[in-house]
Amino acid sequence: MVMEISTTLSTQPATDKQLAEVLANPGFGNHFTDHMLTIEWTPDQGWHNGRIEAYAPISLDPSAAVLHYAQEIFEGMKAYRHADGSVWAFRPEANAARMARSSERLALPVLEIEDFVQSVFDLVKADERWVPEASETDEKSLYLRPFMFASESFLGVRPAQHVTYMVIASPAGAYFKGGVKPVRIWLTEDYTRAGRGGMGAAKTGGNYASSLVAQAEASAQGCDQVVFLDAQEGKYVEELGGMNLYFVHADGRIVTPETGTILEGITRASIIELAGKLGYTVEERRFGIDEWKSGVESGEITEVFACGTAAVVTPVGELVHAGGSIASAGEGEVWKTLRKQLVDIQFGRAEDTFGWMRKI
Ligand code: PLP
Ligand code: COI
Repeated sequence: MVMEISTTLSTQPATDKQLAEVLANPGFGNHFTDHMLTIEWTPDQGWHNGRIEAYAPISLDPSAAVLHYAQEIFEGMKAYRHADGSVWAFRPEANAARMARSSERLALPVLEIEDFVQSVFDLVKADERWVPEASETDEKSLYLRPFMFASESFLGVRPAQHVTYMVIASPAGAYFKGGVKPVRIWLTEDYTRAGRGGMGAAKTGGNYASSLVAQAEASAQGCDQVVFLDAQEGKYVEELGGMNLYFVHADGRIVTPETGTILEGITRASIIELAGKLGYTVEERRFGIDEWKSGVESGEITEVFACGTAAVVTPVGELVHAGGSIASAGEGEVWKTLRKQLVDIQFGRAEDTFGWMRKI
């Protein structure tokens, strides 16, 4: 069943001039559209009171459980404007399915896939003029952030009995300042992201809160992102703070870490399919930090790159650690080919042979 969502349009939407200024240079995560979508949940009523209304601060009781116990999950996806003006989403059902898995892990109610997709589409329709025009050299899009949190006022530790789901949207340009250029990665030895049985595979705020101090360490070392190793042995590469990793080998293999504790990206799944179609053999397996170091040094690894919705596909230029740094071959061609194939599908410039795109 598809849910009822009412709409009350903003009485003070951005003027055309304000909008044009924002869309000319949106950056990432700075500006928000005219509207937001909210749906509430209680055990008695299930999902109810679905509404789109003017974007505005929300009010929460100081005892709301999310503020104390971080019972929260979110998603990240984008809407793309094609050359004919139409607006499309990339694999929204995959984000819906991942949010359902995150719900299970965080003891939150599951929003059905069709309701998730409808909620996102409805907000994009209400704020369609916020979807930027894009070109081959300027890949702007509308970043969509569905999220769900424990809004019950109660300090006992148990799954909340009042939950709020929202979608907000933010026009987006390049995630890294300076656009697509090789990023420097800091290898943290002090912090881990996720342990066995923990929340590593869920997209939940706590994972990002715990990454901040490591990310600050990375910035202090002049790096753009931090790479985490597995918590148990400190030997295996997991992922970056907000992206999955790939290692391209001279013999045509591409290895991407699989440990059970990483966030499995929608971009990651798509790159695996694209790479397979291009004739690469993709291995999803544990990948040692020593394998990274020795592979780059011996020339067996020819490229390292990272991918995620916000950052798309980004080459990794250098791995920096307490003992020094290893230059990595981030300048190769494989990441560029995969990136182009992916964004050409997303922006409607290449045929979508995988059936990934959904018209909004
Ligand atoms: N890993 C982490 C920790 C992330 O935050 C993200 C971004 O969402 C990803 C990986 C990549 O996931 P996706 O490709 O679905 O954006
Ligand atoms: C995304 O790529 O959608 C994310 O959520 C990553 C976040 C660090 C911005």
